[in-house]
Amino acid sequence: MSDQQYTGPGPGIDQRQTTGAGATGGEAGPAHDASGKELARYENPGILPHVYRRSDIDPKAAKRREREVATLFGLSTLGTLLFIVGYFAVKLEDVPAEDLLDRVGLSTRLLGVGLGIALFMIGAGAIHWAKTLMPDDEVVNERKPMRSSEEDRTEAVAALKEGAGGAGLGRRKLIRNSLLGALAPLGLLAIIPLRDLGPLPGSVRTRTAWGPGKRLVTDPVGEPILAAEIPIGGVIHVLPEGIEETEHVLEEKAKATAIVMRLEPDELKEDPDRADWSYNGIVAYSKVCTHVGCPVGLYEQQTHHLLCPCHQSTFDVTEHCKVIFGPAGRPLPQLPLDVDDEGYLVSRDDFQEPVGPSYWERGER
Ligand code: FES
Repeated sequence: MSDQQYTGPGPGIDQRQTTGAGATGGEAGPAHDASGKELARYENPGILPHVYRRSDIDPKAAKRREREVATLFGLSTLGTLLFIVGYFAVKLEDVPAEDLLDRVGLSTRLLGVGLGIALFMIGAGAIHWAKTLMPDDEVVNERKPMRSSEEDRTEAVAALKEGAGGAGLGRRKLIRNSLLGALAPLGLLAIIPLRDLGPLPGSVRTRTAWGPGKRLVTDPVGEPILAAEIPIGGVIHVLPEGIEETEHVLEEKAKATAIVMRLEPDELKEDPDRADWSYNGIVAYSKVCTHVGCPVGLYEQQTHHLLCPCHQSTFDVTEHCKVIFGPAGRPLPQLPLDVDDEGYLVSRDDFQEPVGPSYWERGER
C-alpha cells in the first residue's frame, strides 16, 4: 500500500520537443547525427508537479501509517524475544546423542528466524516510515564547490534540524518509543555469550596432564621409571601415566611430552627456589620448544645441552634449560620431580608455566 500517487507522464509527452543532443536551449539549432540526419528533439520535461501523499493531507491516514510503523517495530521486538527464548530454552547440554542433531536444528532455526524477523522488521518499519510520513518535498540542489560557504553550512545545519523535526521524533512518540523498544533488546544480543562460536578455552592451553603424584612413564612404551635405574647421562622421553585414557589423547600428549635426564647432582646449578624439583641429579623438562613448538629431543651428554632441530635453539640443562643459542625466547619449563614409595619417578605438580611458544597471556595461568 502506498500513498504515492503517480500522475503519469502528462499529456503529449510523446510529442514533446526537445533541443536534442548538444543543445540546451531553444535558440540552438537542431542537432544532427554523423550522417547529417536531423535528430529528434524533445522538450526538457522539468520536474513533474509534486503529488501529496494521503498522509500529507489527511491526519487520519497519517495516524494509520504511524500505527503501521509501530506495528513493524513491535514485530521486530517479538523477533528479538524469539531469539532470546530460543537461545535459552533449547538446551544443547546433557542431550542424548540421538537427539542432539534435532536439538541443534531447532536451536539454529529459532535463532535464525528470530534474528531475521528482528532485523527485517526494523528495516521495513524504517522504510515505511520514510516513505509515508517523512517529508518528501522535491528540492533542487545546484552543484557547488566542495566546501560550502559559511552561509550554506549554516543553512545546512538548519535544514538538518528541520529534517529531524520533520521526522517527527518529538511529536510521534508512539514511533519513537516503539523504535527504542525494538532497538534496546536487539542491543542485548551483543552481550549474550555466543556458545555457537565454541566453548571458551579456559585453562586448556595452560594446563597439562601432569599433576601431583603422577608417575612418569616411557614414551611410547608406557613403562614406569625407577629412579635408581637411570644411569648418569641417561635420557628418557616421558609422558604422564594414564594419558591414553584422557579425552583428547593427541592434544594432551602434545602438551605433556617431556624429557628426563640424569646428571651428576653437583653439575646442576640449581635455583634455591627449585632445589627440590630434581631428584639425585634427575631433571625433567618440557620437550615443546619455546620458539615455535618443535620437539626438543637432541641431548648432548658431554655439554648437557638440549638442542631443538628446527631452528637450533639450544638450552643448558645445568642451568634450568636457559637459552644459550637460537631464537627461543625463554627457558624450557621444568617439571618438578619426586619418587613414590616404590621408588618410581613421579611429578610433584604440573609445569608451573605454560609450555610451548610464548604468547601474550603467558603470565596468566
Ligand atoms: Fe625450536 Fe624454532 S622451534 S628453535
